[in-house]
Amino acid sequence: MTTPGSDSGALSFPPGFIWGAATAAYQIEGAANADGRGPSIWDTFCRLPGRVRRGDTGDVACDAYHRYREDVALMSALGLGAYRFSVSWPRVQPGGSGPVNQKGLDYYRALVDELAEHGIDPVVTLYHWDLPQELQDSGGWAARSTAQRFAEYARLVADALGAGVRRWITLNEPQVVVDHGYRSGEHAPGLRDDAGATAASHHLLLGHGLATQALRSVLPAGAEIGITLDMHPVRVPADAQSDSLERARVATHAELNGIYLGPVLYGRYPEHARPVLLPQPPVVAAGDMATISQPIEFLGVNYYSPVYLRSGDPDDLRRHEEPARCELPGVVEYRPTGLKRTAMGWLVDAAGLYELLLQLSADAPGLALYVTENGCAAEDYIDPSGAINDVERVTYLHEHLAAAARAIKDGANLAGYFVWSLLDNFEWAWGYQRRFGIIFVDYETQRRIPKSSATFYGQVVRANALPPLPS
Ligand code: FCB
Repeated sequence: MTTPGSDSGALSFPPGFIWGAATAAYQIEGAANADGRGPSIWDTFCRLPGRVRRGDTGDVACDAYHRYREDVALMSALGLGAYRFSVSWPRVQPGGSGPVNQKGLDYYRALVDELAEHGIDPVVTLYHWDLPQELQDSGGWAARSTAQRFAEYARLVADALGAGVRRWITLNEPQVVVDHGYRSGEHAPGLRDDAGATAASHHLLLGHGLATQALRSVLPAGAEIGITLDMHPVRVPADAQSDSLERARVATHAELNGIYLGPVLYGRYPEHARPVLLPQPPVVAAGDMATISQPIEFLGVNYYSPVYLRSGDPDDLRRHEEPARCELPGVVEYRPTGLKRTAMGWLVDAAGLYELLLQLSADAPGLALYVTENGCAAEDYIDPSGAINDVERVTYLHEHLAAAARAIKDGANLAGYFVWSLLDNFEWAWGYQRRFGIIFVDYETQRRIPKSSATFYGQVVRANALPPLPS
């Protein structure tokens, strides 16, 4: 018997499985003022004192705007079949509406052409958090008009790139946009506005639906459209189950995952979330839920960590405990001491990925799943021989790929995997203080150095199978 997520020799992936790496525009491109790019909410947020570690910004980042050829060559050397990148809305439409910036579109055309020359399929994310500042000034995602603007922008990008791009992702992690951007304020636009947050949830989803329609109206047959959600399995230890924990599990799942998954898959908000989190009329207008739930070809899943629940007193927290976000009495979230944590402090739990993929395949039979992000931050350094031996990341990837392979064998409809991230990059509020890349970036020189995890990942990709973990 093997435990899901545990290592037991070579595991293979189905023929045609898509192997890729992921990045996002603001995190890698730099060139913030080049060629007519407009300001985004992240340009603004980075300049607010104390919001981003060390006052870092994405002004230069990995300078991928100028160095994309080198990056594509690195991907090609690893044998990758796909590259998930995002289009910067303010680069191609600086004000978020109105005139297009041709030079911005030219950049993405050149990137798509470069990928094609290396046989790498582009996977385009239309919104990875860098809203044009002008749209924020008119209400951001709390305003319904932003959903309409997003669909117009989606259409203009599809008009420009549609011939060379088959797979399209509307939004990246709307849950994080709402929770970090509008509720806790940890991310741009840095607001703490519960009513605005709930409206933003709905308008993001509506934007997904309207953009999907806009994409379909211009893309050739065979295009695949989906959305990427951050998914968090909610776990209660087998020996600690009770009715109140089960209620908390259902509520936490509804609030974290269901508010986005439910509308997209089934056209309805979940029943068990707190009413304050659930969009209502007049924010929800007639016909919206049908727009949001129209068919998609795939679901993108970003998986990093699950949430663990146990009985406890939120007013008298013990070590490794936090108040439960669902706010039900007698329940706390906690971090099991047996699990490793990454440099972000995030729990490492590959079995969570296995369970998630099987659950999603049961909930949405026939819908293709891609893991559009998975990876970890580690304390990487260049050793005296010039190498970056990121053993923790190799182990992390190995465990999660083993879990993915087992999930496929047990019936999950997983069609591809994208490691987060190709490169070390600007990790939002952490600035450059956290490294997630399989390729190290020396920010002083912009030199790229593949880490041991890149070598390992290249082996997996070429073999379409997972070798035993190096000892
Ligand atoms: C995800 C984001 C991605 C990156 C990783 C670590 O939530 O989509 O941009 O920051 O976390």
